[in-house]
Amino acid sequence: MSHEIFALRPWLTNAHPLPNAPVGMLGRTEAKFFYHLAKDAFTGRGTIVDAGSFLGKSAYCFAKGLQANPMFDSSRHRVHCFDNFLVNEVGTIDFICHQLGQKMSLGESTREIFERQVAPVRDLLEVHEGDFHVMPWQHQPIEILMIDIAKSESLGKRVVEVFFPDLVPGLSIVGHQDYHHPWLPHIHVVMEYLADCFQLVAPRLDDSAGFVLTREIPAEMLRRAVDYDFSIAEQIALMDRAVERLPVEDRHVVELARLTLRLAANDWMDVRAEFESVERRNTHRTEDATWVRYVDGMRNSVDQSEGWQQRNLGHFERSLQLADNLIARGCNNSHVLSLRAASLGGLGRHGEAELVYREAL
Ligand SMILES: C[S@@+](CC[C@H](N)C(=O)[O-])C[C@H]1O[C@@H](n2cnc3c(N)ncnc32)[C@H](O)[C@@H]1O
Repeated sequence: MSHEIFALRPWLTNAHPLPNAPVGMLGRTEAKFFYHLAKDAFTGRGTIVDAGSFLGKSAYCFAKGLQANPMFDSSRHRVHCFDNFLVNEVGTIDFICHQLGQKMSLGESTREIFERQVAPVRDLLEVHEGDFHVMPWQHQPIEILMIDIAKSESLGKRVVEVFFPDLVPGLSIVGHQDYHHPWLPHIHVVMEYLADCFQLVAPRLDDSAGFVLTREIPAEMLRRAVDYDFSIAEQIALMDRAVERLPVEDRHVVELARLTLRLAANDWMDVRAEFESVERRNTHRTEDATWVRYVDGMRNSVDQSEGWQQRNLGHFERSLQLADNLIARGCNNSHVLSLRAASLGGLGRHGEAELVYREAL
């Protein structure tokens, strides 16, 4: 069936092909998307890469799909799983505690949970454990590349450097699991820069988007993408195009990602106006808890950005007001406390400033 599935879209049916799927961060539709890619699109002319395996859910979906694929050859076909299998952030502690009732701390290994969850398909997996920045990869054609590891610009660059040279024109499918995510605009910038070589075949499935490589990426373009050699103006122009490429109903989260980029360019006044416009155009999404969380996070980012700029302009009353509003909304990280302390200092309230600085530290 190969790429016909992007017209048939079996992941949108009510079927439940993965009744006992493990705990993980994939939504229901994208889990089925990965399953069907391995079952219906995979031809065996390349391998499958699961970059960012976490507790094994995406790996399990690919492996189950492979097993259901008539072309499956158990002696050759594998899913390559990349992860450092570490608790890298506080959110992971909360996730594992909530989903599995297991208490973990920062830096602890999640490998045992991964092994437990993928046990039924373990023979199909080849695990590459370690920091992806330095993980080796034995070059071979990649037919399906799932990217859920591009959590920073440097990891995004590494994904392009390590895997994109092994993509095969007309064959390879790239799933970007964080495409509909507000804080990782480097993903959109790179995919839009390479848009002449990729076709967007699945605009939005939960947080994922799917692309097919249609022609070879010229060496010079690949180099620029690996280096992430784009001025902020170029990045914003590419992001504008990335937004326009999406169907209107699929743009909202990528519009937030554009705001993340524009905040880095420091034009908070325009950013606030655009943020309010995005929010107004999406009031029908307030039942969607993820959307509400993203909007709240972006409001905090805009307020912090304005707060620091107002403070730098000497407008201490305004920066203090913004810091107080953030703290009242529960956003009381050390960055916000430092803003409050700096504003109090600017207003000559040095005793209070010192106490807040201590709290920030
Ligand atoms: C959102 S999770 C992946 C979710 C997974 N695909 C699933 O199906 O549930 C992202 C993963 O990236 C991994 N990661 C983040 N930074 C990494 C790094 N520098 N090297 C290796 N893995 C990393 C994390 O350990 C985490 O498991």
